[in-house]
Amino acid sequence: MPDVILYTKDLSKAFGGLIAVNQVSLEVKKKFITMLIGPNGSGKTTLINLITGVYKPDGGKVFFNEREITGLLPHEVFRLGVARTFQIPQPFRKLTVLENLLAAYPNNPGEGFFSALRRGRWMEDEEEAVKKAFRILALLKLDNLWDQEASKLSGGQMKLLEIGRALMADAKLLVMDEPVAGVNPTLAHEIFKTLRELRDKLGITLFLVEHRLDIALQYTDYVYVMANGSIISGGEPKQVMMDPQVIEAYLGG
Ligand SMILES: Nc1ncnc2c1ncn2[C@@H]1O[C@H](COP(=O)(O)OP(=O)(O)OP(=O)(O)O)[C@@H](O)[C@H]1O
Ligand SMILES: [Mg+2]
Repeated sequence: MPDVILYTKDLSKAFGGLIAVNQVSLEVKKKFITMLIGPNGSGKTTLINLITGVYKPDGGKVFFNEREITGLLPHEVFRLGVARTFQIPQPFRKLTVLENLLAAYPNNPGEGFFSALRRGRWMEDEEEAVKKAFRILALLKLDNLWDQEASKLSGGQMKLLEIGRALMADAKLLVMDEPVAGVNPTLAHEIFKTLRELRDKLGITLFLVEHRLDIALQYTDYVYVMANGSIISGGEPKQVMMDPQVIEAYLGG
């Protein structure tokens, strides 16, 4: 399956007696924008927690780039190229935009890197990192804010910063939980356009959970629908939104 970057096989997770994710098998195609939708509590966040190592599954498997990653820890999954963003962005609030990116650089030599006063051994690495950071900030249109403290950014800018940190770490697959939650419609469209541009320019793959279907579906190549822990439908957005089972899941409550 050379065109598939990630797939799950019969992935399951229960919390006590509640089966949150029930034998889910799905595929994410390379360079696609794939969306996971479904009513509240249907298991979407739990599923991406299983994929990104936050939870260990009770059963089933996860494969990334043909390699089994089931049960790996979040930082191990991250190092392989799967970056996760959260419903609420978690930047280093006291660091600047640029410093936040530098902290995500894989060769980041650690303490003292940001202060950049300690020239010498790390200089070449630092220069490379700073250049890379500015390339990414330009793509995200955050370059004019490079010196801004992260805590002063708007909600939408924080989401972009989080994406920037993932790109800085060379993520091949971005897994995002509700990237435009709480963002106004104009900015939400901007964020989706930016994501599509990143896909086109950098060749990354996106796997997103989103509730804002009116906005998100027009940027989506493929949709999976979850209800009560199971995948009930999958396909192109237009087709899926006409599926009686999907309509029932949303209206049935
Ligand atoms: N850590 C946990 N402990 C116990 N139950 C949990 C836990 N996490 C999730 N659940 C339950 O598992 C089910 C699926 O939750 P999940 O958060 O995955 O849904 P979701 O589709 O992401 O919902 P939303 O759209 O509201 O974000 C829910 O019934 C939820 O209450
Ligand atoms: Mg959720």
